[in-house]
Amino acid sequence: MSHGADSSTDGSAGDPSHAAVETRDHDRADGEVLDLVGIGFGPSNLGLAIAIDEHNQTSSRPLTATFLERQPAFGWHRGMLIGDATMQVSFLKDLVTMRNPSSDYSFLHYLQSRGRLVEFINHKVLFPLRIEFHDYLEWAAERMSHAVEYDQTVVGVEPVLSADNEGEVVAFDVVTSGDVRRARNVAVAVGLAPSVPFGATLSNRVWHNLDLLPRAAAFPRDPAPRRMVVVGAGQSAAEAVAYLHEQFPSAEICSVFSRYGYAPSDDSPFANRIFDPEAVDVYFDADDDVKRMLFDYHRNTNYSVVDGELIDELYRREYRERVQGQRRLRMMNASRVVAVDESADGLHLSIESLPNGRVENLEADALCYATGYRPVDTMQLLGKAGELVERATDGNPVVARDYRLQLDRPARAGIYVQGGTEHSHGISSSLLSNVAVRTGEIVESLVAHRPATAPLASASAAPMTPRSLRPVPTAGLSASN
Ligand SMILES: Cc1cc2nc3c(=O)[nH]c(=O)nc-3n(C[C@H](O)[C@H](O)[C@H](O)COP(=O)(O)OP(=O)(O)OC[C@H]3O[C@@H](n4cnc5c(N)ncnc54)[C@H](O)[C@@H]3O)c2cc1C
Ligand SMILES: NC(=O)c1ccc[n+]([C@@H]2O[C@H](COP(=O)([O-])OP(=O)(O)OC[C@H]3O[C@@H](n4cnc5c(N)ncnc54)[C@H](OP(=O)(O)O)[C@@H]3O)[C@@H](O)[C@H]2O)c1
Repeated sequence: MSHGADSSTDGSAGDPSHAAVETRDHDRADGEVLDLVGIGFGPSNLGLAIAIDEHNQTSSRPLTATFLERQPAFGWHRGMLIGDATMQVSFLKDLVTMRNPSSDYSFLHYLQSRGRLVEFINHKVLFPLRIEFHDYLEWAAERMSHAVEYDQTVVGVEPVLSADNEGEVVAFDVVTSGDVRRARNVAVAVGLAPSVPFGATLSNRVWHNLDLLPRAAAFPRDPAPRRMVVVGAGQSAAEAVAYLHEQFPSAEICSVFSRYGYAPSDDSPFANRIFDPEAVDVYFDADDDVKRMLFDYHRNTNYSVVDGELIDELYRREYRERVQGQRRLRMMNASRVVAVDESADGLHLSIESLPNGRVENLEADALCYATGYRPVDTMQLLGKAGELVERATDGNPVVARDYRLQLDRPARAGIYVQGGTEHSHGISSSLLSNVAVRTGEIVESLVAHRPATAPLASASAAPMTPRSLRPVPTAGLSASN
């Protein structure tokens, strides 16, 4: 199939002011230039792959795309797939429904294909188990397997500049350790990176909750651990406390956090509108000080908060232990860890009570930092292409409403970001809430920016299929998929 190779040439003779950016040979041997290379294949770019696929099913000009994922297979925060943990978002905010309620990639279609639709309806839940939603995502990823290459870690992105138009960016080369893919557009959706307190060193005894399940599974049971400590008061911390309390029945589990008590997440309906597609428009157009104000008002819909039912469950456990006189769930509130010393035998922790400054020394077997996440540094990942991105005075990249980064020079090619846009698009940026709508908006933008001269793909071409991948399935996939 034709992928519409661009005709312009090496940009090495371009504008000298752009000399910081190394240009690449624009005429690659195979001449293949895709419409899009996606970096990462979590829910955001999986959603984008589906949106492109659905666009292609009805378009006379299909988009060509491939997605590169560093994991060996699809996986969504596997280290926190605790058996009874539930989703923090309605199943109706799946990969597609908010954009295309008749899509056959919906959670409801997944349920039907797994033979559980009726039972799910009887269950009367909006917030399924995370293990079930993970299975849904795997099901969708499997059906989109023609669009993704696993075991591919992207290490940089290099701009391809035209020589004949003052160094206009005409494409990007997306570089992995073993290969380079050229595309007119790049969609970066690489998610979040774990955040730990400054100076913390991770080890076999000191983890981030990102690895909770494998770390707990591998932890020696003989002799049984006597004490484990969890730092933080967000959803991850509360889930880790509950999980370790169940998994290690002879260990004291200490929950250390600076608040007085866990705070419930605000999932009330008016506040929940902050995650609506319309809220993205409102937020995007607001002045910076109003953006900050709205973010701060509604931070408790997502950050440093815990699902109310889990708070009640932990309280119930702690109270029951008081009644029984055998306490091993210990809330160390208004406290912080001030020192961690690790030896071959275990951890020696110093925990300070913030109200009175008293320090308690504790021996512990393990320490789990449930201290949140931060966005991956997209500009660092983009490498040379990142040098072209305009920055606002606060250092944040300038992102247009269509999630396209603003470059410092003329560009036919584009970089789209999913995630890392809380500063411009609001609190839903790192969440699932807007994946369906956002990916539709990105597809619209890809189509709108497509050069008029790009060759039409033939109707019989397999539009999402890079050279090594199997063909796209036809529309109307059977329920057994
Ligand atoms: C435990 C947990 C539970 C959550 N539950 C919810 C929830 O219920 N509801 C909600 O709305 N949000 C939830 N979130 C927020 C979460 O950010 C989103 O659910 C979702 O993961 C965002 O999808 P994403 O594709 O943008 O990022 P990710 O899911 O993080 O996916 C990014 C992908 O990019 C890949 N990648 C990274 N770097 C590279 C590279 N250099 N090259 C190639 N591939 C790369 C990663 O391997 C990963 O697969 C949860 C977060 C956590 C940690
Ligand atoms: N079941 C699920 O679907 C599920 C499970 C887990 C997570 N999630 C999602 O994942 C996202 C992140 O949640 P999260 O709980 O991982 O992170 P979070 O909400 O950012 O909470 C981080 C916690 O760590 C504390 N903290 C941060 N830095 C610290 C430091 N240096 N020292 C001590 N404490 C520190 C914070 O303190 P403060 O209280 O002072 O802010 C906060 O209590 C949310 O969107 C959440 O909904 C979902």
